Amino acid sequence: MIVTIAIVSLLALGWFAACWVLSQRHPEPLWDWDSIDTNDVEFPDGFIWGSATAAHQVDGGNENSNWSRWEKSVDEKGKPRVHNGDCAGDAADHWNRFPEDIDMMRDELGLNSYRFSIEWSRVEPEEGRFDEDVIAHYHDLIDTLIDAGVTPMVTLHHFTNPLWFEDKGGFEPEENIALFVRFSQRMFEEFGDKVPRWCTINECGPYAVMGYGLGVFPPGVKKFKRMAVVLYHLMLAHTAVYDMIKSMPGGDKVQVGLVKNIFQFDPLHRWNLFHWILCRVANGAYNESILGYIERGEFRVRIPTQVNFVRHNPEAAGKTDFIGLNYYANLILSLFMKMEPPFEPHARQSQILTDMPYAIYAEGFYRAFMRLKPLNKPIIVTENGIADDKDDRRALWIQRYIYAMSQAIKDGADVRGYHYWSLMDNFEWAEGWQMAFGLYEVNFETQERRLREGSLAYCDIIAKWSNDE
Ligand code: FCB
Repeated sequence: MIVTIAIVSLLALGWFAACWVLSQRHPEPLWDWDSIDTNDVEFPDGFIWGSATAAHQVDGGNENSNWSRWEKSVDEKGKPRVHNGDCAGDAADHWNRFPEDIDMMRDELGLNSYRFSIEWSRVEPEEGRFDEDVIAHYHDLIDTLIDAGVTPMVTLHHFTNPLWFEDKGGFEPEENIALFVRFSQRMFEEFGDKVPRWCTINECGPYAVMGYGLGVFPPGVKKFKRMAVVLYHLMLAHTAVYDMIKSMPGGDKVQVGLVKNIFQFDPLHRWNLFHWILCRVANGAYNESILGYIERGEFRVRIPTQVNFVRHNPEAAGKTDFIGLNYYANLILSLFMKMEPPFEPHARQSQILTDMPYAIYAEGFYRAFMRLKPLNKPIIVTENGIADDKDDRRALWIQRYIYAMSQAIKDGADVRGYHYWSLMDNFEWAEGWQMAFGLYEVNFETQERRLREGSLAYCDIIAKWSNDE
């Protein structure tokens, strides 16, 4: 009996000691917003103030990619892949309306940067055939931006693959990486002298996790082992594109960066060791795998009983001129959470939810900057914004997150710019049309754009803090 009591006591002690150590090492700050003046911000000269979109979400008429096929398909139970069976279709018709959209950026918002993606499935509709009209379109878009004083920032890969590439296995077979590099090279040859900032791949994490782990993005695979391979190949693809651009004439004059989405994983109960284990495993696979690769050329995805994928690639260390940070919120984990949409959020009592399954958590934005600081690379926020159909939380989001960014700058993070996600309402992947992220509300019947009231908070900040680069 005494022995049992002693063992149980020791186990309990060990359990709580482990939780205490983890709590100290991974705090989850919650600031007292009532006592914070969010106007108390400061930004360096030449700060980039922009907004972001991605081709498939706004352009319309993208009918030749893994996503256009996915949207029209159903799962094993006959359920549409995308919420409500939505398809991107004409989207916000940005393909045709970009001149007026650029006028809005310049005249109403006062942006000095616009991040957009080049749609590979449009540029190279068949393997090895490049469509000159499509390339001419992108010249037009880029020239119009430059004329308006808005610096173009290009993303080479934002979730979509041409069908022919997807049918060859996408990024899963290593030899396919060369096809993405060839496309990227052609784009750099075309636009390298006009575009100073290049994002290689948008959010390797969500692409691999949603597409190959949870199966809610194409190709709908649910195998953690394959997810790890794809994630690693995306990192190889990033490095290969980085090296390619740097070896080209003019490559030393542009900045090439990886876009990393950070979600912190925080335990629902800080006394629950299982919640902690879950969070540390998720953080390792989702964040540290990628950051370790960029920092030290070390790639590790370890998921107990499922995956142990480790690669060392020391020459990859440091191969990014900036880190593109996409940040939305933390994810609070507990056991037995639903692994498919609609995902069910956990939030702390004091927190305000967004329309996406997470809360407003600007403190996490600060944490993300602090995690990136030791990489010693400039940070450009490539996405941050709220899905807020009622537009009753957008201004609060903008003020809090921009305040948190300013705090990070004060504390030594080398942040060079911020892009609000998104310029206008758009097709939100598996969530379809229900998520309103736009600074502009779009009436998808008439394609009319209307600046949301809540977006004025961003206009005010830009007006106060923008000066020429
Ligand atoms: C990011 C994606 C972007 C958009 C936002 C809300 O993960 O990069 O395309 O969907 O989330």
